[in-house]
Amino acid sequence: MSAKLKIGILGGGGILTAHAPGYTRLAHLCEVVVAETDASRHSEIRRLLGEDVAIVEDYTEILADKDVDAVDILLPHYLHAPAAIAAAEAGKHVLIEKVMARNVEECDLMIRACENAGVSLTVCHDRRYDADWQALKQVVDSGELGDILFWKLEHNQNVVFPERSWVRSKEMLGGGAIMSCLTHQIDSLRWYEGEVDQVTCMTKTEPDRMEGESIGAVLAKMRSGALALLSINWYTQSHQAPDGLWYEFNHVTGTKGEAYFMSGKGTYVKIHDGSSKQFRYDLKGEGSFVKVDVKKELTGHQRCIEQWVKSLRGEQAEILTDGTDSRQTVEVAEAAYRAEETKAVVSLPLQPAR
Ligand SMILES: NC(=O)c1ccc[n+]([C@@H]2O[C@H](COP(=O)([O-])OP(=O)(O)OC[C@H]3O[C@@H](n4cnc5c(N)ncnc54)[C@H](O)[C@@H]3O)[C@@H](O)[C@H]2O)c1
Repeated sequence: MSAKLKIGILGGGGILTAHAPGYTRLAHLCEVVVAETDASRHSEIRRLLGEDVAIVEDYTEILADKDVDAVDILLPHYLHAPAAIAAAEAGKHVLIEKVMARNVEECDLMIRACENAGVSLTVCHDRRYDADWQALKQVVDSGELGDILFWKLEHNQNVVFPERSWVRSKEMLGGGAIMSCLTHQIDSLRWYEGEVDQVTCMTKTEPDRMEGESIGAVLAKMRSGALALLSINWYTQSHQAPDGLWYEFNHVTGTKGEAYFMSGKGTYVKIHDGSSKQFRYDLKGEGSFVKVDVKKELTGHQRCIEQWVKSLRGEQAEILTDGTDSRQTVEVAEAAYRAEETKAVVSLPLQPAR
């Protein structure tokens, strides 16, 4: 394929900062046009994508442009399903920033619309494309940790949105911090360990921050038999403090070893007997944790966009997050909410609510 792709970016808010470098480095392969209703964002969009970048106001203007091949949806969650469905009906391939949609019902409508239109549906769950998170997956997939017993995944942030932000609305967000952001951890857990069998959940809401929960803990039993504890804390400043804690942390315990990823630190592994067949860990001594050598050339967002553009060009691509897969992540979050509401353990797949 020689002609440049034309990609419409729907929404030029905060997360454009992560997507824009994915496109500027591929400027020889694709041109972009951005839709953003808030004119006060336009100068920042130009700063990120270049002074010449085309900007329109509403995303429907991009969908009406016959020259646009595909769209990258960076809109608030309540617009994910309507925008993706309209894009599919207009014949555009769809990349959508996580979380795919507010609930499984919306995900299914999006999947059906894309299937009917014969266009692809990809979700930008960036952690799956990040070199450190991929390194942890390689360690687990090597089998050297033995049987996996337990996962612990944490996300810590200090999230304070302006009073009129859509993030404060449970309806617009699709819940709270679990649906919005712990879906990073849920999605990664499913990628690392397979599907979830059962969940239970507790949450804490701080109405001065948002209608949905700011804090949540999900306990999951995996189909593999492993347990997983996932937590989100949108009320902590510890990760920003000097000598504070971490932003994200994944820890896996197996019968023969353990491994973890910690933001700002990297990916580490410990094989209990100190030997490794598949990896050349820099073993400093029997029983110690050693750092996995990770080459971090691109961010997860940049790599996701790179692979997506390859797939659009008909080239071999590593798409790790298609719509049907990412739908299962939303299902786990929805099951967690149902568990909290009913004070029960909820089994997956979800049965329709009575
Ligand atoms: N991967 C990550 O770590 C990460 C971090 C933050 C946000 N996100 C995700 O990014 C997505 C967007 O979040 P955000 O933080 O950028 O939100 P945001 O509110 O900053 O940006 C959304 C933008 O969409 C614009 N918009 C609304 N309606 C529009 C329309 N009809 N046409 C054109 N533009 C319109 C808004 O004006 C706004 O600028 C969400 O899915 C969110 O979950 C991901």
